Amino acid sequence: MRFEDLRGILRYVPQFRDRIFVIALDGALMKQTNFANLLQDIAVLQSLKIEVVLVFGARSQITELAQQRGIATSSVDGMGRTDAASMDLAIEAITRQTSELVADLTALDLSVVVSNALGVHPAGVIDGVDYEFTGRIENVDENALRVMLKADIMPVLMPLGYDGRGTTLRLNSDEVAVEVALALKAAKVIFVSESGLTDENGQRLAQISIADAKEMAKGKAGELDINVLSKLRQGAFACQEGVPRVHIVDGTQEEVLLAELFSNEGVGTMIHGDQYQQIRKARSTDVPALLSMMQQSVEEAALVPRTRSQMQQRISDFYVLDLDGNPVGCIAVHVFETEAGKLAELASLCVRRSHKNQGHGQKLVAFAEEAARQRGCDRIFALSTQAFRFFEEKMGYTVTTPDVMTPERRATYDKSGRNSKVLVKTLR
Ligand SMILES: CC(C)(COP(=O)(O)OP(=O)(O)OC[C@H]1O[C@@H](n2cnc3c(N)ncnc32)[C@H](O)[C@@H]1OP(=O)(O)O)[C@@H](O)C(=O)NCCC(=O)NCCS
Repeated sequence: MRFEDLRGILRYVPQFRDRIFVIALDGALMKQTNFANLLQDIAVLQSLKIEVVLVFGARSQITELAQQRGIATSSVDGMGRTDAASMDLAIEAITRQTSELVADLTALDLSVVVSNALGVHPAGVIDGVDYEFTGRIENVDENALRVMLKADIMPVLMPLGYDGRGTTLRLNSDEVAVEVALALKAAKVIFVSESGLTDENGQRLAQISIADAKEMAKGKAGELDINVLSKLRQGAFACQEGVPRVHIVDGTQEEVLLAELFSNEGVGTMIHGDQYQQIRKARSTDVPALLSMMQQSVEEAALVPRTRSQMQQRISDFYVLDLDGNPVGCIAVHVFETEAGKLAELASLCVRRSHKNQGHGQKLVAFAEEAARQRGCDRIFALSTQAFRFFEEKMGYTVTTPDVMTPERRATYDKSGRNSKVLVKTLR
């Protein structure tokens, strides 16, 4: 590993210290060889003073047990009706899982407590159907969980609840994770799933807004794994109610947890409720403010001068980073059709001087890359006279030759005489 990479990683450590992360593991992952590494990564987070609450699901284990016993189940994920036979299977499977999980965590020297901090009641009758042993979370004993976290003890929450009358109820683990995160005002919910989230071309969706997550959760019911649908729905709800970041990562990949949390670009999908939402499409009325923001960089020859009408003409390519209603950064994505496919140019990247070094430049670039991906581009290039190191070191671009451009774009490049460095990146 290069020292620059290490520096990049260590940058996150103070940001995350003493923050609460709720990590929800799909039960199916527990049967995989990679699971030991996943737990090891959770132990690393704990060692960095991140306060971890662990939640796990049991769908896969209950399904397997039902098959072994030849018992028909009413529902295995805690979302539908749980009849008495399914409840018996759930208790048996989850008890075994809990024991195995605690054994594995103990082997990593972690102090854990299996907690009954959820106040639950039966879900009752919904649309005329009695949900029997399916539970609904009424409240979370926030204080009990905080006491454990402050003592460096990791609370482990099963997808089961107890209603105070001696009844055990089946819960959905995604819902448990979100309710706990909301009660504890967690910084993140991380769904470590059996699969990741991709678009129709099989490309990873790096960031999605709350609205997109909600839309996907209802629109693609036939296409997306039921598991991921539940995470999209619960994740959107969590963000909407105030959890700043929700991540969905494919737990079958190696080192997925650390890669998602400690790299700029991540490896999973992030549902965001705040700052990213503030990056929006530019409007004609933004042009004066954007020109004035770019003026200093133009004077320093870092940016090409643009007239008001040039900008107006291409306004649909521009994005603005808005903080409290003020534009503090901008970026543009121009798309070229080439024989080898669509190619994007990242241009007009600028962050207001007063807001530099707060991560906005990197966010704008990541956002532009995602916009380019969504417009079908598989490569993106940028021209820069003074920020080429920023592109190389922070955003993973490499310096290339002007041949990467289309002939027309190359001609304007040559004509400008600016001799900018040309940087390129493949958009996976
Ligand atoms: C380049 C620019 C967009 C970076 O914005 P920013 O919001 O300050 O960047 P971030 O906060 O995301 O990142 C800051 C990091 O990038 C580094 N960085 C910023 N500008 C850099 C540059 N020109 N060269 C090398 N590194 C640079 C900082 O040193 C800092 O590194 P650190 O985290 O290791 O301390 C901004 O400086 C700018 O507007 N520059 C003028 C316009 C320009 O050159 N645009 C590019 C042409 S397309």
